[in-house]
Amino acid sequence: MESDRLLTLIKTRRSIRRFADRKPDRDTIDAIVEAARWAPSNHNRQGWKFVVFEDRGEIQALVEDVREAVEKAFVDAHRLAASHSDELIEGACAFGAAPVVILAMHKKRSAMGGKLLESAASELASGEALSTAMAVENLVLAAHAKGLGTCVMTAPLLAGEVWANVPDLPAGFEPTCVVALGYPAEEPDAPRRKALKHVIEYR
Ligand SMILES: Cc1cc2nc3c(=O)[nH]c(=O)nc-3n(C[C@H](O)[C@H](O)[C@H](O)COP(=O)(O)O)c2cc1C
Repeated sequence: MESDRLLTLIKTRRSIRRFADRKPDRDTIDAIVEAARWAPSNHNRQGWKFVVFEDRGEIQALVEDVREAVEKAFVDAHRLAASHSDELIEGACAFGAAPVVILAMHKKRSAMGGKLLESAASELASGEALSTAMAVENLVLAAHAKGLGTCVMTAPLLAGEVWANVPDLPAGFEPTCVVALGYPAEEPDAPRRKALKHVIEYR
């Protein structure tokens, strides 16, 4: 693909939060995850997994568990004004609008072994989460190229224990983000971007 077509694809991708009542089929989902598979990764470890939830009942049950856990966390913490916490709770549950939900997961650093990695100070230094984030960008762009909409979401992970307790998740992996996936039922305007001169620094 020429670079300007790629740039157009990148620029026209939007976070979609309202979806048509039509489920992407498995061939389509496979094709999207195929793009994720070709992302760069630290030492080419490909320390990622994509767990696809496509059962409405299971997604709804996750939404309810996330809602309960996040509500409880806010009540316990007394940290936020009620109005603000409502918004965050709704944000954490917004993945429930999608017919398909993909939990992107990265390999836990402790599971990687190796002295260097074990002594590395930060999660980022191990590269697993960053590699998975890059794979997720491939995934959302591939979805957009196929006419599907996505929204990357980390607010649902506020309910960490809910995801940790999902049965049969791959061992040794932890959630990176949730990706809501489906056919778009909205065409949002592009949120403003910072100007190039404000994000680039030449030395
Ligand atoms: C790491 C990450 C976490 C995000 N978490 C959420 C989220 O929890 N809920 C949500 O509605 N959108 C979430 N978003 C989507 C952003 O709000 C969105 O990308 C941003 O506003 C720019 O809009 P655009 O994606 O349409 O260009 C997230 C995006 C990223 C990259």
